[in-house]
Amino acid sequence: MRIDILSILPNFFNGAFEHSILKIAQEKNIAEIHIHDIRKYSTQKQKSVDDYQYGGGAGMVMTIQPIDDLISKLKSERDYDEVIYLTPDGEALNQGICNQLSTLKNIILLCGHYKGIDQRIRDHFITREISIGDYVLTGGELGAIVLTDAIIRLIPGVLSDETSALTDCFQDNLLSPPIYTRPSNYKGWKVPEILLSGDDKKIEKWRENQTEIRTQNRRPDILRNK
Ligand code: ADE
Repeated sequence: MRIDILSILPNFFNGAFEHSILKIAQEKNIAEIHIHDIRKYSTQKQKSVDDYQYGGGAGMVMTIQPIDDLISKLKSERDYDEVIYLTPDGEALNQGICNQLSTLKNIILLCGHYKGIDQRIRDHFITREISIGDYVLTGGELGAIVLTDAIIRLIPGVLSDETSALTDCFQDNLLSPPIYTRPSNYKGWKVPEILLSGDDKKIEKWRENQTEIRTQNRRPDILRNK
């Protein structure tokens, strides 16, 4: 999978994809991440990428030209399955959307700034708009990092134990049960006996039960969607 990220703050991504699983995914050539500086494509003398809002009002708006030139260039080089705009008024990101996107070949992620982008970019280029939560960030960069991370780890071959992505929180609209590792007793804080019993059936039942309790207590809303 290839992800092209378009931003006016390319340095924001320094190091973001150079660790752990995302690093391995790129080394194995399962994922390619390309960061593009929108400003480089501005034809303005000052390389400006924003302007005042028509009709008045506070806040600058990102202009069409540099984004048009950059997206058009990328599209002339390959086909894209989705051109995604990260925005607080997009559809709320969830595991189902990540699963869907992880099956695609090429996607563009456009990060907005200031008040947002000229509506005509949304009308003519954007195929999907995604929000990473009901709060407003200073720009779409953190959203692009979150989305990239959540998608890439789902691509087959990225996680060594492929089943581990399937047992994630939210994969069945359920939260994961509590987990423990050694030592079994730390300063008197004990691991539940059942996990040490060696009885796989009982352990599975316990985990299912814990999953239900946890989801009921913490996220009854996702349980209702089951
Ligand atoms: N840009 C600003 N806020 C955002 C959010 N909540 N999700 C995605 N992109 C954003």
